[in-house]
Amino acid sequence: MTLFDGLKLLHVSCAFISISGFALRGYWMLRNNPLRQQPLARVVPHVIDTVLLASAVGMLLVWGVSPLELDWLTAKIIALAVYIGLGMVAFRFAKERRIKIAAYVGALGSAAYILTVAYTKSPAGPLGLLGN
Ligand code: HEM
Repeated sequence: MTLFDGLKLLHVSCAFISISGFALRGYWMLRNNPLRQQPLARVVPHVIDTVLLASAVGMLLVWGVSPLELDWLTAKIIALAVYIGLGMVAFRFAKERRIKIAAYVGALGSAAYILTVAYTKSPAGPLGLLGN
């Protein structure tokens, strides 16, 4: 296994753990489940997300490309910012339940878009899947 393959395995594993964890924490939030407040549920996501991004940076260093050189990487970064922003609205800033739900669903949508961009290597995301 090459260094790139190892980083990619780490990246993909963290990506799926990150998105499933986000979905679960959002579900707990909407059900007012106190599990969301437990220390593990507050700390682990930050560790996973740091490893997710560090492995992405590692792959780019091994490749020797800038993320702005490839349109699908740029699309991923923009969608990642949307995912993080909507997640913050859902978990922290929104006071009304319907805003929390809208932000949570929007964040899951951007996560799904990021996954389709990752697999198709096209900013068209889900539309890119049709072409394959
Ligand atoms: C929530 C955020 C992210 C998720 C869910 C995610 C998900 C994935 C997945 C599933 C793959 C594997 C695709 C395949 O097997 O072909 C992948 C590959 C990759 N991702 Fe991410 N990613 C995220 C963020 C990023 C960011 C911010 C960058 C860098 C700007 C990045 C750079 C890469 C690179 C370089 C690859 C390898 C592509 C290849 O093998 O050809 N990812 N990502």
